[in-house]
Amino acid sequence: MYELQTTVTIGVIGAGAMGAGIAQVAASAGHVVYLHDQNSNAITTGINNINTGLKKQVKRGKMTEEDRLALIDRIRPTTNINDLANTGLIVEAIIESLEIKQSLFAKLEEICSSSTILATNTSSLSITSIAAKLTTPKRFVGMHFFNPAPILKLVEVVTGLATDQRVAQTIYNTAKKWGKSPVYTKSSPGFIVNRVARPFYAEGLRVLEEGGASVSTLDTIMRETANFRMGPFELMDLIGHDVNYAVTCSVFNAYYQDPRFKPSLYQQELVNAGFLGCKSGKGFYDYNNDEKPSYSEESIQAIPKNVLVDGDLGVASPLIDLIKNSQLSSKINADSTESKLVVDAVTIVLTNGLSASEVARKSNQENLIVFDLAFDYLSSNRIVLAKAEQASDLALNTAIGFFQALGKKVTVINDIPGLLVMRTVCMLANEAADAVNQNVASAVDVDIAMCKGVNYPKGPLLWADELGVDTVFTVLTNLQESYGEDRYRPSILLRKKYFSRTNFHI
Ligand code: NAI
Repeated sequence: MYELQTTVTIGVIGAGAMGAGIAQVAASAGHVVYLHDQNSNAITTGINNINTGLKKQVKRGKMTEEDRLALIDRIRPTTNINDLANTGLIVEAIIESLEIKQSLFAKLEEICSSSTILATNTSSLSITSIAAKLTTPKRFVGMHFFNPAPILKLVEVVTGLATDQRVAQTIYNTAKKWGKSPVYTKSSPGFIVNRVARPFYAEGLRVLEEGGASVSTLDTIMRETANFRMGPFELMDLIGHDVNYAVTCSVFNAYYQDPRFKPSLYQQELVNAGFLGCKSGKGFYDYNNDEKPSYSEESIQAIPKNVLVDGDLGVASPLIDLIKNSQLSSKINADSTESKLVVDAVTIVLTNGLSASEVARKSNQENLIVFDLAFDYLSSNRIVLAKAEQASDLALNTAIGFFQALGKKVTVINDIPGLLVMRTVCMLANEAADAVNQNVASAVDVDIAMCKGVNYPKGPLLWADELGVDTVFTVLTNLQESYGEDRYRPSILLRKKYFSRTNFHI
């Protein structure tokens, strides 16, 4: 029930990057699609782009030539908006302007029957605000695809205050029928993905600004230890700094300057310089230079003599198996309530959101090294370390030699509280928790959105459950103490989960 049959004709307005992709998705599900743009050249380019993509699929044997021709035939280009009169659903993907979208929808209300569902693909405008000028706002809904629409599975189905739940359900079911992974969310700044993803960029930028490591080293860490498809800097270069910075500013201002969303001065400088990323040839990386950017990796150090595993190591416990299977002479103290490794008198602990120097001082262990979170300590090929200021170089080399003996490549970064992966993952989970707390979406839908919309290796709330809600809470509280900033305050829902010892997913 509540889904559009393939006999229903679809209208798509705006034949740019998104509109053309959405038209392709609807046409490949079997609908006839009227693709409208005020600019006929844009329609020609849009259809050409669809055709180029489809021809590639035919070449790879993923589609027959017959099907390609039939699909293209179902897309009917038009510069006359009146051709959309008999459509059952219109998805708008024009310029991101409240006034222009409002006047377009007012016009559509005149042209179409009252049963036509009106949807917008807006990324940043309020669904409630666009609908405010309509006579029948209950049939208005957000249908937010991700770029490239034919490839990325996520569709955020966004309800405004006036949206009829059955309309949202119809869009949800229809998106599912089109092979997408829809999620429900309500009209709020950034919806799910553009809100929850902010810390992925923001924490990378903070670590860079504080001199944690080079851009390419930080990107390598996020790819190789945290399993993200791209690091934050290469991804920002791909998105374009003008776009990424504008989204950050828009979410920051929409949440009344909540410090959690504070934009980066570093990124503002890139925008001011015109270093917009791939599209301008220069961003964090120089795209006119073929040289592969180098990242930091430690040279081989001596294998240490003795390893004591003191406690179960929590989320890093897979390291114990690696130690047992290595040539290292080890003692396992499984009953200990500690959670640390002692390697030739050097203490090695998982970062807890404080700097290594602070942990060393508080625990009275001068030769202390911290390591970063890894997606999976067994399969991740790289480990990231930082040394307390008071620790000796020999202590650092001992820790490097230890992890190398476990088969890991080692990258050392400066002593930044929470290093890179741990603070990023905890902040992503915190933002996800806050979105759930404010009824923006369910925990399940937030995780689906982050995996299907931006290819995260794991949903942030599932990640928090696996890491331990207590660990996430502790890291955030420690970051808040380290920086003295409200930005790191744990979401009230995370607090509740921490004190009730419950998880986000049952
Ligand atoms: P685009 O600039 O590639 O295409 C917009 C098209 O709309 C142009 O061809 C333009 O001629 C046409 N247009 C503008 N005003 C019009 C009007 N009044 N009537 C008919 N056609 C009109 O833009 P893009 O990137 O496709 O974005 C479109 C919408 O999708 C925006 O609301 C944007 O926020 C949203 N969006 C964009 C994503 C992206 O990654 N580019 C991702 C998800 C949503």
